Amino acid sequence: MPDMVMQDAIHSAAELLRAGGTVAFPTETVYGLGADAANPLALRRVFEAKGRPADHPLIVHIADAAHLPGWAQDIPDAAWRLAAAFWPGPLTLILRRRDQVLNEVTGGQDTVGLRVPDHPVAAALLRAFGGGIAAPSANRFGRVSPTMAQHVRDELGAQVGMILDGGPCRVGVESTIVSLVHGKAVLLRPGGLPVAAIEDALQQKIALTQAAGRELRVPGALAAHYAPATPLELHSDDVLWQRARQLAAQGRKVAVLGLGDAGEHAASSGFTHVPMPDLADTYARVLYATLRRLDQAGFDRLLAEMPPDRQPWLAVRDRLRRAAQGT
Ligand code: TXA
Ligand code: MG
Repeated sequence: MPDMVMQDAIHSAAELLRAGGTVAFPTETVYGLGADAANPLALRRVFEAKGRPADHPLIVHIADAAHLPGWAQDIPDAAWRLAAAFWPGPLTLILRRRDQVLNEVTGGQDTVGLRVPDHPVAAALLRAFGGGIAAPSANRFGRVSPTMAQHVRDELGAQVGMILDGGPCRVGVESTIVSLVHGKAVLLRPGGLPVAAIEDALQQKIALTQAAGRELRVPGALAAHYAPATPLELHSDDVLWQRARQLAAQGRKVAVLGLGDAGEHAASSGFTHVPMPDLADTYARVLYATLRRLDQAGFDRLLAEMPPDRQPWLAVRDRLRRAAQGT
């Protein structure tokens, strides 16, 4: 339960949403830039603040699964099962939309993305507001998502009506997006909820390719996305340090994001070693904040060690790949 000061702030934020304003708020994954999902003018403000193309759909955040029928129709059993198992939590469901859902939310598609966030401030805001809150991540289009209120202030500052500070996000990467509109579940974006958990709940394998989601337009599925401003290279452990020494010898200011203990390499001079957690969840939690910090530190190049090709690392590997392609 948020404290009294926060409760006042949440109350004002709900008022602002009702008046068509924008509110940045914390979720367990990343900070969102929220607006009334039923107000086209408010939604336009979100697109303007982000510099995001208007045909990209937004996720509608709802207080609990009981609100699903207000936004979606032909809701399959699988959706109810996943909602019961994982909401509130880092899972977004793509369902067939109800006719009255605005085109500004769906990008003109016949589907809608829905999720119940697991953060006390987000939950209290949704309760106080009453309706659905459309919210993309609170960053400029294509950049790294914010995991702290300060990130939102730095990047969007004056363009946001209000920022609710709920501390650092627990998960640190965006929600897992699963489409249920074509009968079987399809993964559109790996994220905070492991695919294995979803497969367990559905007793069914999920198609891992994003090809099936191409027609559904997921901007997170664009190659250049989630990118830092400093060029990032991804390498396996065996070439990582050699590459770092090579760049350092050319006079470049290099930071190396190595997994866990770097052993004798950490002592090498000429570049900065940034030890990253060797547990996937912990790595995900600090990834975006680390990229932002290194962006501000004036490095010429970031080199990251590619984490192992195993399920728990799916989301982190995905975001690192996109960050590397975006620069
Ligand atoms: O964790 C999250 O999902 C965060 C927090 C704030 O909830 N939100 C987030 O929003 O990452 P955004 O807009 O940055 O990314 C949402 C993704 C986009 O890739 C969008 O295309 C996809 O969800 N999406 C939304 N509605 C969709 C739909 N109807 N069909 C396919 N993809 C959809
Ligand atoms: Mg985003």
